[in-house]
Amino acid sequence: MDKLLVTGPHRLEGTVKVSSAKNATLPILAAALLFETPVRLADIPKLNDVSTMLKLLESMGLKIERSGKDITIDASHVSNLVADYALVKTMRASVLVLGPMLARYGKAKVSLPGGCAIGARPVDIHLSGLEKMGAKIQIEQGYILAECERLQGANLTLSFPSVGATENLMMAAVYADGETIIENAAREPEIVDLANFLIHFGVSVEGAGTSRIRIVGVSPQKKYSAPKPYRVIGDRIEAATFIIAGLMSNSHIKVTGFEPWTLDSVLETLEKMGGKINRLADGVEVLPSGRLKGAVIETAPFPGFPTDVQAQMMALMCLCDGNSVITEQIFENRFMHVPELARMGCKISLKGNAALIEGVEALSGAPVMCTDLRASAALILAALQAKGQSEIQRVYHLDRGYEDLEAKFKGLGAKVERVK
Ligand code: EPZ
Repeated sequence: MDKLLVTGPHRLEGTVKVSSAKNATLPILAAALLFETPVRLADIPKLNDVSTMLKLLESMGLKIERSGKDITIDASHVSNLVADYALVKTMRASVLVLGPMLARYGKAKVSLPGGCAIGARPVDIHLSGLEKMGAKIQIEQGYILAECERLQGANLTLSFPSVGATENLMMAAVYADGETIIENAAREPEIVDLANFLIHFGVSVEGAGTSRIRIVGVSPQKKYSAPKPYRVIGDRIEAATFIIAGLMSNSHIKVTGFEPWTLDSVLETLEKMGGKINRLADGVEVLPSGRLKGAVIETAPFPGFPTDVQAQMMALMCLCDGNSVITEQIFENRFMHVPELARMGCKISLKGNAALIEGVEALSGAPVMCTDLRASAALILAALQAKGQSEIQRVYHLDRGYEDLEAKFKGLGAKVERVK
């Protein structure tokens, strides 16, 4: 297994451009199942989760052509309406093939995604929405069996603004009979990007980014097409990771390739802590801001503070003046980075879903272990500022969601080496 050797503390400088967003790419790849005509996507990030999704689509009979980072997907002959446990268990976003499969073929067999390191991650909100649209759903031997002659448009109200459920139901609504309204829909920028992708193909979608999304269904025989390739939005979570790295090292860097509005809550929190950040058209400029002061935050659905930036923010708070509190409201087990950060000298105590962080003067390098994708990022951020060398193990977690992370950090002057 690969590991990263990181030597700190080290200031950063220069500009880094983030890749396309993993959490927009995955639903958009699943949405390719909806269309007979080829789907062209530009500049798709080379991530393990993206390869897993592409493998899943190929296992269903879709043809995938790659040229560099551009891909063309031909879903004209889907031969296998089964999303196998072997693939689904490695990546929960595989469940996003359920809605489009049901919409276009009236049938789907998708392995229950099962939990993952950060929580149980049920799909009850996905399934109850599909049932309200007329799908017959059974759970048998760990598989979701769904059938429906043709889905009916419906007025749905989600019990929680689940990102995945909103995406699955948006895709299911594309060929439903009549219009579908999704109330209490997730508002994440990745939802807006999925909507823009569907609109790019001619689908009528309104309200994405608000709590009320309206989709007008058409007959499955409708031949949607899109002449030009679609470019996915920049990865705001990757951007937040670099912005926090810049602030932790009192550096002057630019982070580009994303839209600043997608990180409003993070940028506002960092500015309240004393971070000096200039917004640019395609990113932000981070200015040397010295030692920041702690804050009290809690994660929430967009536009609240994103749970995917919680671990990275905790790493920063370890080196702030004073105490901070982070309450994790989205996932039930998303503090696995805490014991690993403590090995570098961080002072963090947990009480239920709240973490109390006491700022310390300095951190010291140590061997640490990645446990999940965003926890891995937090460990790198801490290691970049810790005195001496850190050895970060199990970086396969990182490779799921960050493209060329060590190369990007090296490009900013950091001392990061990957060793086999
Ligand atoms: C998406 O996961 C993201 N993944 C996650 O990013 C992100 O943390 C999450 O949204 C929240 O923003 C992708 O987009 C591929 P949810 P998703 O459905 O769709 C509960 C990363 O690091 N819930 O909004 O699974 C669920 O258990 C990943 O990139 C139900 O109870 O998130 C969780 O506690 C991690 N029933 C909460 O809602 C359901 O049917 C949020 O889940 C669905 C969800």
